[in-house]
Formats: sequence, C-alpha cells, structure tokens
Amino acid sequence: MIDHDEYKASIISGSLQTKEIRLGPHDPGSRNLDEAAQALREGKLVVFPTETVYGLGANALDAAAVEHIYTAKGRPADNPLIVHVSGIADLESFVDGIPEKAVKLFSSFSPGPLTLVLRKKPHVPQVVTAGLETVAVRIPAHPAARQLIKLAGVPVAAPSANRSGRPSPTRAWHVIQDLWGRVSYIIDGGNCEYGLESTVLDLSGGRPVILRPGSITADQISSVIGDVCQDSGVNRQKSGKVRSEIDHPRSPGVKYRHYAPQARLLIAEPGKIEHQAGRFAAYLQEASRDNLKAGVFCSAEIAGFLKEKFSFRFLPEDMCSKMQNQIPAVIYGEKSDSTAAGTALFDALRQLDKEGVDIIIAEGIITGGSADAYMNRLRKAAEE
Ligand code: TXA
Ligand code: MG
Repeated sequence: MIDHDEYKASIISGSLQTKEIRLGPHDPGSRNLDEAAQALREGKLVVFPTETVYGLGANALDAAAVEHIYTAKGRPADNPLIVHVSGIADLESFVDGIPEKAVKLFSSFSPGPLTLVLRKKPHVPQVVTAGLETVAVRIPAHPAARQLIKLAGVPVAAPSANRSGRPSPTRAWHVIQDLWGRVSYIIDGGNCEYGLESTVLDLSGGRPVILRPGSITADQISSVIGDVCQDSGVNRQKSGKVRSEIDHPRSPGVKYRHYAPQARLLIAEPGKIEHQAGRFAAYLQEASRDNLKAGVFCSAEIAGFLKEKFSFRFLPEDMCSKMQNQIPAVIYGEKSDSTAAGTALFDALRQLDKEGVDIIIAEGIITGGSADAYMNRLRKAAEE
C-alpha cells in the first residue's frame, strides 16, 4: 500500500512519475497490464482506454484511492463516479439487488456504452457515490479496460480522464495534456471508438430515467424495457415511448460546466444546408470584423459551401500548407452523420484550441437518435 498523504501531495504538485504503456493497434490489452493492475490494487491512479472515452481509474472499494481521482481532476466532491466491472456477476458484491430491467439491458447492450444507476450496498465508499444511496455501474467493452479490471481483481471507479470542465479525452495526447504528473499510469489504446461518454440510465427509482444521452439511444432502451423518461438536462424528444417530464435533474454531474474548450464555442444551428452555411458565414465575418481568430467544426458539405468565400486549412494537418489567414477546420464526415460528429467532437475542440483560436463554430444537428448525445455535449460545451 502507498502513503496516501505523500501520493496526494505529488498529485497536487504534478510531480508523480507517470508511466505510459502503449498498446499496439492489433494487440489491444493483451500484455503489459500487470503492473498497472498492481498499481490499482496498491491505491494508485491508472488511466485506461474504453470504447467511449479514456477513464481515470482507482480501486472503487478503497476510499483513499478514490479520493485521489477528485484531486487529480479537480472534480467537485458532490459529483459521483461510475464503477466499472467485467460482468453482471461482479455487481452482486456491491449492488443491492439487481432489477430485472438491469439484467435485460446489460444482456442487450453490455459490454458496451451503457451505465446503469442502481441501489448500492452499504460498504461502497461514500466518496464513490458522493453520498448518494445509488451507484452507477458499467461493463466496458474495450479489451484493455476488460483486461485491466480482471487483472486488478477489483471494481474500478473511473470518471472521464480529463481535468474537470475540459472536453473528455478520446486520444492519449488529450490525457497527457490534462493529467501528466498526476497519475501513475496512462495506458495508450489509440482512438476511442465512440468518442462520447456512455448513456447513463437511472433504474433506482420507479420509472427509468436517462440522465445522460449516449450511443445507446432512448429508443433502443425503450425497445427492451418499455417506458423511459429523459432528465430535464437532456434534449427533449417527443417520439415513441420516450418522455421528458422530470423537472429536477437527478444526476449531480449535469449542473456543472462541461466539455468546454478554451475558445468560445458557437453553434451554427441546424437547418437547410444553405441556411446553416449562412450561419457559419455570418459568425466567421463577425469574428473577422472583431479581429478574432475563428476555427470551424463541420461536415464536408458545409465546408464545400463555405470554401467559395473563405480559405481553410484542414486539421489534422499538413504543416506545409500552413498559410496566413487560413481558417483552421476539422471535418467530421457527411452532413448530419451524428455518430461521426460525436466521435470527432472532443478531439476537434482540443485540436482547435491548440491552434489558438478565440472562437470555434460547430455544426448543429437535428436531435433524435444518436444526435441527442452529440447535441447534448455540444450545448453544454457552448454554455457560458
Ligand atoms: O463513458 C463513460 O461513462 C466514461 C467512461 C470512462 O466509462 N465515464 C464517464 O464518467 O463519463 P464521468 O464521471 O465523467 O460521468 C459520470 C456521470 C456524471 O454525470 C455523474 O453525475 C453521473 O454519471 N453519475 C454517477 N453516479 C451517479 C449516481 N449514483 N446517480 C446519478 N448520477 C450518477
Ligand atoms: Mg466526465
């Protein structure tokens, strides 16, 4: 076991010895993870890749270890963590009764990007759940995450591995930017598949409530368990059996500023392509009038429209093409492909920040299905 006071002091000063473990693209998670698993058991912090975003992990049953997560992230103490396990059987030791709906949902969508909020057993440390009577649990699909949890032999509490308020990390360099010197290990598993955090569904009360939209959509969930509601912090949706009638957010995390780039983020609201391109153009002209440097995050179609009037430099870039006065741009894919936009969003915000832009103009997509998660993150990132 480690000296927790000393470890905490090193996190605060950013002087922890951070070790990076790189996994090969064809060999995700099959080696080198023993020492990271051992570190988790000793009460240290380990960053690991998941299919959604990178997680900042600690042994969920060790309160002192979990406290280090809050220190390293600068996370408010009232925002609870997700506990990661390798299968449903692992839940019994700390979840107080697994409802049938949870079994059905995990059978349908796990391992994968679905988190369920369930009633907890008393021995789950308060620091994991921020004092709540419930605990959020997820069974990640990424092979490195699965192997790490298995080797560690303990449930792993892990929020996204970013400094609090910043965009969630979907590449190892994002984690290095935020947490180098503040964690013991960073396991580099390449780019995260989904790029947005898991869907969080609360099953602890009478009616299931989506607290945070993600890749597993409201309609997918309601096709397995029937009625679901959306939390008020979630984009409204009228279709099918999905209702939005909860007035008080049940998830503590939703009240904080999130995902924010350093630049000011503006949304070009969705609409017909010429109208939406017009919104981009108006923002770009305004920025140039105010002598502000702008960057854009958009589809290939919108970029095609704008190219007639504006000169772009596309990222990730070819440095040779760098010319004065070009607008840095990240293209996510084809217009309204919200899955592609979601995968690219957080990386784009960080890339554009690196360019030193004052303003980022990002493409809005009409909500419904997987666009809910994308627009939820975009709106939060754009909140002043
Ligand atoms: O995809 C993900 O979920 C990633 C990866 C690492 O698994 N994790 C993640 O964790 O996004 P974090 O801490 O950034 O977001 C967890 C969210 C927060 O909004 C938090 O408030 C909510 O889940 N949450 C956790 N425990 C809860 C509980 N007992 N009741 C209600 N909400 C809870
Ligand atoms: Mg987070």
